[in-house]
Amino acid sequence: MKKKVLVTGAFGQLGNAVLKKFQDTDMLATDLFIPEFFSGSCSSEILDVTKPEGVQNIVSRFQPDVVLNLAAMTDVDGCEMNPEVAEKINSESVLNFLEVFDGAFIHISTDYVFNGKTGPYDEEDLPDPINMYGKTKLSSEKYVMKHPNPWCIVRTNVVFDYAKNSDASFVKWVIDSLQNDRKIQVVHDQWNNPTWTESLADALRIIVDKEATGLFHYGGAEQINRLEFAQTIAKVFNLDDSLIKPITTESLNQIAPRPLKCGLKTHLIKSKLQVTTLPLEVSLKHIKSKFSS
Ligand SMILES: NC(=O)c1ccc[n+]([C@@H]2O[C@H](COP(=O)([O-])OP(=O)(O)OC[C@H]3O[C@@H](n4cnc5c(N)ncnc54)[C@H](OP(=O)(O)O)[C@@H]3O)[C@@H](O)[C@H]2O)c1
Repeated sequence: MKKKVLVTGAFGQLGNAVLKKFQDTDMLATDLFIPEFFSGSCSSEILDVTKPEGVQNIVSRFQPDVVLNLAAMTDVDGCEMNPEVAEKINSESVLNFLEVFDGAFIHISTDYVFNGKTGPYDEEDLPDPINMYGKTKLSSEKYVMKHPNPWCIVRTNVVFDYAKNSDASFVKWVIDSLQNDRKIQVVHDQWNNPTWTESLADALRIIVDKEATGLFHYGGAEQINRLEFAQTIAKVFNLDDSLIKPITTESLNQIAPRPLKCGLKTHLIKSKLQVTTLPLEVSLKHIKSKFSS
């Protein structure tokens, strides 16, 4: 029998890849809005995860085996300015599911649960978030871990794709700017291992198929800074990398502090679940090949 998978935040950046990789399951895609371009390859419904009645209603009608919880407020400065809203969406919403659902709960978290002093981090390292986004994601993890459901938390970082419909896609911003001869400024002091949505969706598929539980870190194969990320995009897409100018995070005066030396070590998920990580250039070449097909 096909697994019944309920996906929240299904039309966000990661959701788009998840919908492809889980096509052969009995999937229900939910989000705040159903986009016009959605072709209906699976059932879809509007669901605001902060509304307990809505969550209860959908869980009792659909009776999922697995909830794949991608819904989140991912605007880091927005979370800092609206901490109560961030707590509701990123953290308390998890309880809305856990109180009415006893199947497998798969939750996505972030390297921003760490303070960014000594990354990359493994699963044993102690979280110490320095901004509201990280704090709300850490409190969601605690709710999930306390619950008797079978659970799996996957922390990831700097999730990317060329998302045509998103203004928040770093890859799209770099490509579009350089193609139009626009100079861009990119920080050279934030370190992570950028993660292609499709490789993360593959990892989530393995987790669901193997019914894996526990806390795992997943990210791309290289630990690099954001400037190097932008330069690698320029290289793969044959664009002029002299248009990319280095700046510091401090000079951006952002509302929320950023953990600088972050990123995630992935040895546990690789050894325990035989999940692979992809080199950045390989991921970007896959994205490029989709442009020309
Ligand atoms: N992006 C990253 O670099 C990154 C890094 C580490 C971890 N993560 C985690 O990965 C997961 C997926 O992130 P993503 O990159 O795909 O982010 P995303 O593109 O912002 O997707 C999140 C989705 O959740 C939806 N959403 C927001 N509030 C909701 C609510 N109350 N009820 C239901 N849906 C709601 C959003 O809708 P709207 O767009 O309409 O708000 C969006 O479609 C999140 O848990 C995030 O914290 C992301």
